[in-house]
Amino acid sequence: MDRPSKIFSVRGMRDILPEQATHWQELEDIIQDWLHSYGYCNFRVPILERTQLFCRGIGNITDIVQKEMYSFTDFLSGDQLTIRPEITAGLIRASIEHNFLYKKPRRIYSIGPVFRHERPQSGRYRQFHQANVEALGFVGPDIDAELIIMLSRLWKKLGINDYLRLELNSLGELNERIAYRDSLIDYLKKNLNLLDEDSKRRLHSNPLRILDTKNLEMQDLVKNAPSLFDFFGKESCSYFDNLCKYLEDSSVNFKINTRLVRGLDYYNLTVFEWIKECSGNSITICGGGRYNGLTELLGGKSTPAVGFAIGIERLLDLWLKKKFFLNQKDKECDIYIVRYKDFESKRLALRIGEELRNAEFSVIVHAGSCEFTKQFRMADSSGAEIAILIGPNEIAEKIVLIKYLKKNLPQQKVLLNNLADFLRSKRNDIFFQNGE
Ligand code: HAM
Repeated sequence: MDRPSKIFSVRGMRDILPEQATHWQELEDIIQDWLHSYGYCNFRVPILERTQLFCRGIGNITDIVQKEMYSFTDFLSGDQLTIRPEITAGLIRASIEHNFLYKKPRRIYSIGPVFRHERPQSGRYRQFHQANVEALGFVGPDIDAELIIMLSRLWKKLGINDYLRLELNSLGELNERIAYRDSLIDYLKKNLNLLDEDSKRRLHSNPLRILDTKNLEMQDLVKNAPSLFDFFGKESCSYFDNLCKYLEDSSVNFKINTRLVRGLDYYNLTVFEWIKECSGNSITICGGGRYNGLTELLGGKSTPAVGFAIGIERLLDLWLKKKFFLNQKDKECDIYIVRYKDFESKRLALRIGEELRNAEFSVIVHAGSCEFTKQFRMADSSGAEIAILIGPNEIAEKIVLIKYLKKNLPQQKVLLNNLADFLRSKRNDIFFQNGE
């Protein structure tokens, strides 16, 4: 008898084998701890929803609804169903259904798979996972800023903040967009011969998306298009100005990109994306914004809302590249502690070693009875970025001496009490290199 043929996975859907799953688990744990530290609680919704939810929520004219949804008729019930292409609409549906926002505003998150029938390529899958975060019932813009500041903290925690840039825009309010839309269509119609087929198709259905085109030949055209900001009233202007001020206060760097419109129709006012530049291609790790109209659109009471979703596969890929870099074979540790041979120095060295490991550095505390020069040689060959020197003088002064082993920087005295915080704040400068 012939052996039955093998059955393979569906295109664009990936298996996560145990070795990989360990990294997933670790990343998800970090994400959940981070979310809990800002008061967000977990909310789980089904993967299968009524198709109407996404048509109405995301918008009938978007690429997601028109081309990318896994939709089918349940032949047992006759219901038209869709495997969720995002989580936000399901969370809002469930919040309305359970009167969840009745008593107070809420901070919620949901992590899980989403499905889009896109052309698979590196970093783009048909089943992927999102960490989806929503602040429901808050007017803003302070909460919009908090979400962005919060993300910046996560990138720092993962050691990838140097690799991401934040793009920020405001889409104003619906009436402002409607006025703008007419003027944009007029402008584009005058330049019809410069539009590609995709843009011609969008001209009347979704002209704002044309601004987001990747077509190099259309860049001058979109650069010279009328600006949506010119159509903003006082409130939209001050909303955006205040958001920018909050971010500046928190030292979060951002670039205003007036062409950023996002691929879902429910946004108003704030929109943002965190982007990684990767060999000339940019890849969005996280995107979000404000969507004050969605609850009402889905049959609930008007409720201000803002949120974002992180693409877990994309974040994991970047994070593992960083981790891999740190764990290179020629590197035994981040920090090598060199110490004098007296008892008190050895005692302090052991204690500091533990403290720095608590701060998530890998540390070798020198053991054995060699002279300083030999200890420094061993520190060099360990691949450590810095050596920390401890001796009777340092103990008397309550300091340690930091010697940079790879970077051409002068040695530095740091107060003993402040050592872990100091090294934490310098983690990216000292321990990571630029580039991939
Ligand atoms: P989105 O920009 O469509 O937003 O998706 C969020 C993130 O999911 C993207 O930034 C990207 O990292 C990841 N992603 C999207 N498509 C794929 C794909 N095919 N393969 C791998 N990763 C992908 C939303 O879904 C909104 N619901 C976000 C939101 C929440 N806005 C407000 N609240």
